[in-house]
Amino acid sequence: MRLSTLLALAAIALPYSVADAAQDPYSYAEPDTVRVRHAELDLALDFPARVIAGTVTLELDWRDAKASTLSLDTRDLAIERVEALDGAGHAQALRYTLAAPDAELGSKLSIAAPGHPARVRIAYRTAPTASGLQWLDREQTADKRAPFLFSQSQSIHARSWIPLQDTPAVRFSYAARAHAPAGISVLMSALRQPAQGDVQSFSQPQPIPSYLLAIAAGALAEQATSPRTAVWAEPSQVQAAAREFGDIEQMMRTTEHLYGAYRWGRYDMLVLPPSFPFGGMENPEMTFLTPTVIAGDKSLVSVVAHELAHSWSGNLVTSATWRDIWLNEGFTTYVENRIIEAVYGKTQADEEFVVAADELKHKMQSLSENQQRLAPAPREVGADDALTDVAYVKGAWFLRFLEARFGRTVFDAYLRGYFDHFAFQSITTEQMLDYLRANLIEKHPGKASWDEIEQWVYAPGLPATATLPAVPAFVAIDAARARFLDGSLVAAALPATGWNTHEWLYFLDHLPEAPTLAQVQALDAAWQLSQSANAEIGMRWLPRAIRAGDSTVWPAARATMLRIGRMKLTLPIYRAFAATPAGLAYAEAAFKAHKAEYHPLTRQAIEKVLRKAHAQPEAIR
Ligand code: BES
Ligand code: ZN
Repeated sequence: MRLSTLLALAAIALPYSVADAAQDPYSYAEPDTVRVRHAELDLALDFPARVIAGTVTLELDWRDAKASTLSLDTRDLAIERVEALDGAGHAQALRYTLAAPDAELGSKLSIAAPGHPARVRIAYRTAPTASGLQWLDREQTADKRAPFLFSQSQSIHARSWIPLQDTPAVRFSYAARAHAPAGISVLMSALRQPAQGDVQSFSQPQPIPSYLLAIAAGALAEQATSPRTAVWAEPSQVQAAAREFGDIEQMMRTTEHLYGAYRWGRYDMLVLPPSFPFGGMENPEMTFLTPTVIAGDKSLVSVVAHELAHSWSGNLVTSATWRDIWLNEGFTTYVENRIIEAVYGKTQADEEFVVAADELKHKMQSLSENQQRLAPAPREVGADDALTDVAYVKGAWFLRFLEARFGRTVFDAYLRGYFDHFAFQSITTEQMLDYLRANLIEKHPGKASWDEIEQWVYAPGLPATATLPAVPAFVAIDAARARFLDGSLVAAALPATGWNTHEWLYFLDHLPEAPTLAQVQALDAAWQLSQSANAEIGMRWLPRAIRAGDSTVWPAARATMLRIGRMKLTLPIYRAFAATPAGLAYAEAAFKAHKAEYHPLTRQAIEKVLRKAHAQPEAIR
C-alpha cells in the first residue's frame, strides 16, 4: 500500500489495522507458504446415500523453502487417503491430521509434506449434511423424474465438498470428471467436454477462487438463447426460462461494449429448484438462478444482469477476503444497473436503484457502525454476513458518485482499465484505492477530494454526497399512498392499473410495516396482492398482511415460505409470523414438519429467527 493511503487512514482513525485486512480470517490456508495452482477432480455422485465420493489432486506452487505442511480447509469431510504424486504418477502416502471442527471454519487438514511434492491427491467423502450441497428427492423437483443435487460454495462452503484452500485470495484452474447415473446431466462452473460413457467432463482453464466451484446434477434440458448462451432447467420449465432470459445476448453485448470482451467463452444459466437459497450465483460459465425470477414479464431479470456483471466484477477482479466483498457486489450492482439502463431504459434503471437505495437507508438503521462501512473491520463480521445492502447498494452508490463527478466518458474508460489491470487477480480494498488515486483522482484533479473517497469507503452511514435520481412516477405514487393512508382515497381508486413491478415495490416498501387490518383488506380486495405470482411483491405484501392481523393470508404465506428457499424471500415471512405467539407457533409447526426439505443454509437461517423470537420476543415484534 502507498504511504499516502496509510497516512490518510490514520487520519480518519480506523478501528483496525490495515495490515490485518489483508489476511483471510475465514481460512486455515497459508497462501504465503504454498498455493494451489490447479485442481483435478474425480467425483462419483451417490444420490441414495447423498454422498460425493472421490479424489482431488492439487497442483502446488511452494513459495517458502522452510515450509513443511500443507494446510487445507475442510468441513464434515471424511478423509480416506492422502498421497504425494511424483512426475511419473507414482503415489506415496503422506501423514496428515484432521483437527477438531470449529463451528464456523470447519476442520483444518494438516498434511505433512516436507518434500514439497508438486502434486497431492486426497481421497474423501462428503457428509449427507454438507453445508454447501443440497440433495433433493425426485418428488421435490418440478418434473418429479429424477433426484437433484446442487452446490452453493460462497462464502465458505466449498470446503464441505472439496478439501482445498478455501479463500478468495487463492486462484486456480480446474478440470473435473463426474460419474452420475444414466439420465442425470451434470453441470459445473466450467466448460463442458464431450461425455464418455457415464463420465461427464469439465474444464475451467481460467484461475478462479474456490467460492466459484460449483456442481449441479439432475434431469435437465438445454435451450439456446444465442450461439454462446443457453438456459438449462427441468424440461417443463426450460421454455419459460428461455423466454424470460431471452435478452441475455443483448445484455452481454452491452457489457462488452462498456468494459471489454467477455473472457469466459460461454455464458449459460441454470434454473434451480425453488429451494435454492439465493436469487442468483455467478458460477463462471454457468450462473445458478432461483426460479422465482421467472415472473413471466421479465420484471425481475436484473438478477440475471447482476450475475452476468460478475463476469467482470467478481469473477475477473475478485475481492481477496470477505471483508472486501463490496469490491464484488458493489461494483456488480453498479454494472447491473448500467446493463438495465442500456437494455430497458433509464426510467427502469432509476426506479430499480431508488427502490434499492431506500431499502438500504431503512436497513442501515439496524446495522452496527462497523457493518455500515464498505470496508468493515475484519473478524467483526461473519463470512456469510457480508450479504448486507451496504456492500451492494452503498458500494454501487459510491461508483455512481464517481461517475457523476468525473462524467461517464472518463469513468467508463477508467472502469474498463481497472478490469483489465486486475484481470484474474484477487485484490483488497486498499489495492483498489491505490489504483483509483493514481488513475482517476490524481489524473483529473479538482473533481473529487481524497477525503470524500475515504468517507465513502471507511465511514459508517451515507455521506452527504449520496444523491438519488428524481423518479416522476414515484412522486405520484407517494402522493397516492399518502391519500390512501389518510383515508381520502379508497384502495380501488389508486391509480395503479398501469404500475409496473418496480412501482408496486415502491408503493409497498413505503407502507407502514404493520398497516391496519382495514387497510390490508381494502388493498387486497382491490388489487389481489396476496395472489400475486411475483415473488418480490409477495415478499413485501405477505409480512405486512400478517402484521396487520389478517389471518386469511396465513395459508398462502405458509405455502410460500415452505416452497421458496431463497432466504431473502422466505425469512421476512418467518419474521412476521414470529412477532406474535400464535404466529410463531404456526410458523414453527410448519417448519418442523418440513425442515428436511430446506437447503442447509436456509434451515440454519430460519432456526436463528425462531431462536431469537423465543429469546428476545420484543426484538422481533
Ligand atoms: N454472489 C452473490 C450471492 C452470495 C453472496 C452468496 C454472498 C453467498 C454470499 C450473488 O451474485 C448475488 O448477489 N445474488 C443476489 C442477486 C441480486 C442482488 C440481484 C441474490 O441472491 O439476491
Ligand atoms: Zn452478486
